[in-house]
Amino acid sequence: MAIKNNKNAKIPLIINCDTGIDDAVALMMAVKSEKFDIRLITTDVGNVGPVQSAINCNDILELIGGPEIPICAGEGKCLTREREHVAVHGKTGLGEYRFPKNSRKLLKEDAIEVLNRTITESQEKITILCVSPTTNLAKLFKKYPEVTKNIEKIVIMAASIEPTPKGEAPYPEFNISVDPEAAEIVFGAGVPMEIVPMEMGHSAYLDWQEVFKTKNTNFVGSVFEVMFRAYKDRHVKNGIAMHDGTAVAYMTNPELFKVSPVHTDIEYFESVDTGVMTMDFNKKPNAITCTEINIKKFKKLYFDLLKKCK
Ligand code: RIB
Ligand code: CA
Repeated sequence: MAIKNNKNAKIPLIINCDTGIDDAVALMMAVKSEKFDIRLITTDVGNVGPVQSAINCNDILELIGGPEIPICAGEGKCLTREREHVAVHGKTGLGEYRFPKNSRKLLKEDAIEVLNRTITESQEKITILCVSPTTNLAKLFKKYPEVTKNIEKIVIMAASIEPTPKGEAPYPEFNISVDPEAAEIVFGAGVPMEIVPMEMGHSAYLDWQEVFKTKNTNFVGSVFEVMFRAYKDRHVKNGIAMHDGTAVAYMTNPELFKVSPVHTDIEYFESVDTGVMTMDFNKKPNAITCTEINIKKFKKLYFDLLKKCK
């Protein structure tokens, strides 16, 4: 008997993140949307070290009254490059807010083994939301290439769709350019890739009035406002970029976005001393990318979910 496609079924999800401030917003939105069965969170190289990111994930889950979710810190070493963690998100990765201690634990296992086990043993195909560099996923695919068979798709906050003159380097977006060799492996693994580029989070940024509204919404909002003070995205001078939040919104409310098939490559440019994602809308597509976001509806979604916190 055909199994009815149950529209209310929760999406089996793994989140790979580098919790940071916009990752924290994304985690709140994912949990409060109630649309995901979050099986595992792994933390990767990125805004801060993976152990701190993992602690930050538990602090945010405690703050929003979220469920216990298995959280495992990745190794934190890029495939080949030495990287220093940048303090774009403040010392702890969540700005200057000091979270009270909580009893939530972290998995003390190898993140690649946990990823492989969680995906392989799942009865349903798993969707991966990546809102960080892709180092954990590249290591997983290198060690266990068969695991891709049980992955539905990867939704990734990454890259820039801004056109650049031929031969010039596109903007080196962080989640690709911290570990471009890893991104090359992940985008080449044959898993359907859906990209939420940085222009979405830049255009859907919270302005100062909306930051003030966040603060006055509830206690969680007041904590977010303290965190926001440390978020310095060079492209957004008058507010807070919502990069990772837009990736969650793309999964929960795809109707807020316009998308297009696109051909992506990872190319290396001396001018930026790393690899960047190039996008070509005229070549044979190998991914889908968002091209537009309904800013007003995104912000309504953000506040509606924030109001579900206390
Ligand atoms: O370029 C923005 C991305 O880099 C976001 O995911 C942010 O959290 C950082 O990881
Ligand atoms: Ca991130």
